[in-house]
Order: sequence, then structure tokens, then C-alpha cells
Amino acid sequence: MNDTQTLSQRADALEEKMSQELDYIVVKSRLYMMAEADMGPAVNANAIMAKNPNARVLMGDDPRLPAMPEKPTLIDFFKYRFGPAAHLLQSAKHAVNAGLPENMVLACLLHDISTIGFIRGDHGYWGAQLVEPYVDEEVTWAIRAHQVLRFYPDESVGYEYPQSYIKAFGADYRPDEYVEEDYKRMKNHKWYMSGRMITVHDIYSFDPDAKVELEEFTDVIGRNFRQPEQGLGFDNSPVAHMWRAMIRPAKYL
Ligand SMILES: [Fe+2]
Ligand SMILES: [Fe+2]
Repeated sequence: MNDTQTLSQRADALEEKMSQELDYIVVKSRLYMMAEADMGPAVNANAIMAKNPNARVLMGDDPRLPAMPEKPTLIDFFKYRFGPAAHLLQSAKHAVNAGLPENMVLACLLHDISTIGFIRGDHGYWGAQLVEPYVDEEVTWAIRAHQVLRFYPDESVGYEYPQSYIKAFGADYRPDEYVEEDYKRMKNHKWYMSGRMITVHDIYSFDPDAKVELEEFTDVIGRNFRQPEQGLGFDNSPVAHMWRAMIRPAKYL
């Protein structure tokens, strides 16, 4: 490996070497490549297979990831696919302590699942879509709305524009126009306060000692999330493929 290679060329070379040794070939989606600013060609699976006749592209489970049950539940995704969920657990706990209804506790528990398990940008929209077939319409609406409402203060409930946003985005940051437009629609909606409640309990400065376990919410999930019998990803719902994308994120086709 020489020093003139770019980081992504080096990563590709490493992947290729791994494929030749391990009999499976990882070909990343264009979306993952673009996140690395890589507009180059995808890994050449045919060339690797020519050198290692045992090698195959990934069409089944990815051996690098934790195995998932055949009929995965929401809790399985928390355990085996989502990144650290402390923020969601603490938000949900905060909502419980404030006496919010169970469906809103669930909304707080799920509000950032896209950030921790799927796609960051527009995470409220993606997150809402992921859960839409399985929760009350109000929960879906509130999850979608929270990411928009986060940008707009509401004195009536003591919600201020987050200091962390000023730091993260800069003091002169303004939300994109489609967010502004959605805000105008959302602020007059009958469920405005449901979306707003997520932002109120969307807490960033936690007590570092407060440990909240997912098990505390098993019953809330059981009563408010319609877990499909066939498992998330296999229930033929309009979003099943999105859950499958998390189960096998590097599936070749
Ligand atoms: Fe969020
Ligand atoms: Fe959040």
C-alpha cells in the first residue's frame, strides 16, 4: 500500500483484501460512498471473484454484524442494530416522570431511531415513516414534527432554541425552506402540542449517573407498538424494506 492512495482507495484495498481472504465481498451502497465523498466506481466484485472463486457478494446475513432473530421485534433492533440509545431512553423516562400519556412516552422513546439506526438528515421524517404502520397516527405525526419544531421556540411551554444548536450549526444558521414551510403547517395542526412535547423532553444534558434500561419500556412498547407477527421487515408493510435495510445494510441486491 503506498502513500499516494487516498483514504477511500486504501479502504477499498482493505475491503478487497478482506474479500479475498474471507470469501465474502462487501459492496457499499452509493449512499454510504457519497457520505465519504466517494463518487468512484463501486468495488469490482467480478474481479475479486476471478481471484477467489469462493468469494460471493453478500446476499444473506452480514457476518460482521450481530445476528438477528428470524422475526425481529422493535426491541431486537434496539439491541442489535441501533447505536447507543441512552438519549432516547432518558427522553422517554423524562416523559414518564412528567406524566405524559403512554403513546407520547413511546413517541419520545422512538423520536430519534433514524439517527441511531438509519439516516441522520431529515431523521424525523425517516423515523416517522419507519414506525407509521405500527403506531397511532398521532405518534407518527409527532415524531415527524419534532425535528421541525426543535428549531422554533415556544414560550408557552418554556421551550427555547437549543444552545447546543447555536454551537453545532453556528449562530447564523437558519433552517432550510422546506422546514420553515413545514413549521407554518405544523404550528396550526391539532397535534402540534404532541410534536412539541417531544421537543420539551428531547433532553441533551443528562444526569450522567441516571441509567435507564430498555426493559423499563417493554410494557409501553407492548401496548402501543403493533409488533408484526412475521417480524419487522417481513410483514409486507409499505416500510418493511426499510427495516430489512437495517438488518442487511450491505445486501448486494
Ligand atoms: Fe431528533
Ligand atoms: Fe432527540
